[in-house]
Amino acid sequence: EAIEKGGYEHFMLKEIFEQPKSIADCMRGRLNASAGELTLGGIQNYAEALAQADRIIIVACGTSWHAGLVAEYFIEDMCRIPVEVEYASEFRYRNPVIKEGDILIAISQSGETADTLAAIELAKAKGAIVFGIVNTVGSSIARATHEGAYLHAGPEIGVASTKAFTAQLTVLIMVFLKLAKRKGTIAESRFRELLIELESVPQKVEKALKSDDQIREISELFKDAHNFLYLGRGYNFPVALEGALKLKEISYIHAEGYPAAEMKHGPIALIDENMPVVFIATRDSSYDKIVSNIQEVKSRKGKVIAIVTEGDVLIPKMADFVIEVPATHEALMPLVSVIPLQLLSYHIALMRGCNVDQPRNLAKSVTVE
Ligand code: G6P
Repeated sequence: EAIEKGGYEHFMLKEIFEQPKSIADCMRGRLNASAGELTLGGIQNYAEALAQADRIIIVACGTSWHAGLVAEYFIEDMCRIPVEVEYASEFRYRNPVIKEGDILIAISQSGETADTLAAIELAKAKGAIVFGIVNTVGSSIARATHEGAYLHAGPEIGVASTKAFTAQLTVLIMVFLKLAKRKGTIAESRFRELLIELESVPQKVEKALKSDDQIREISELFKDAHNFLYLGRGYNFPVALEGALKLKEISYIHAEGYPAAEMKHGPIALIDENMPVVFIATRDSSYDKIVSNIQEVKSRKGKVIAIVTEGDVLIPKMADFVIEVPATHEALMPLVSVIPLQLLSYHIALMRGCNVDQPRNLAKSVTVE
């Protein structure tokens, strides 16, 4: 087992640090930025049906569901197709409206999640075309779908999903950039720019990982907190949900993720000097708005930990702690901004003496209801 952990103390830490490589593996042979090409061998026969879709339904559970939420923002932005993201467990039992030829995308690391598999079977029975975004080759979900794209992220052992999340985002971005190109909903220049940016993501993730020591120090100060709030807007809203989930899963600290603007409809009542609030506040189209949200928290004495874009000069004046990540296009930022949140949950859990790789009551793959 020590060999499998490759020198790291835990599988989770190994998998977090593996991300520059797993993201690159996921793009290998598929992305050719200089030629402006994306090749996805697994999505061919039904590519035209995807291009004709008047809506897309995404089903998943847990972290994979969060990847689906990022995809919703991306697909609507780039492809102009309406998207609904559903918890597989709700979708399968609520008599959903699905018509012949509708497109369903199932996202699953393990490919064995019972609810996701049942959602696929239901959709297929109603005539939907189902694509799988799956890590485990030959898994039940991979076999049940019509077509799909594997993550090629390598096996994920830690129960809390990390490298699968970033690989899911990478694949989804490639699939839907290609679709946007095919549909003509993206300008050639923007398409090229995003391909080049995507190619540079592994280096940016590598750089984001360099904050590990700083994050360990911050973790020391917050390890005894009873609650955490994670706030983000736009593409970083699902990242807030994912950050909160990571912390809950392995440190057993209660954490909630919220869209930052929605805070005033409830969570703001929780803020006092004992409430750590993690803002994912990188430079993007909602930057000014999130700066105001930080002010709202600070004026109520909340403790702010902000994930910011490298070189930000404004937020460091307001926040208690800032963690920098390299700049990238806002649609790709979740690939980078999630990294410090994974590390934060890891260090806090470790300091609290929790079993990081096998948290209580959780399973790597939930094959029963
Ligand atoms: C379990 C795991 C999570 C995972 C979720 C969905 O809850 O502990 O890490 O995100 O299942 O699993 P899947 O394999 O379908 O992505």
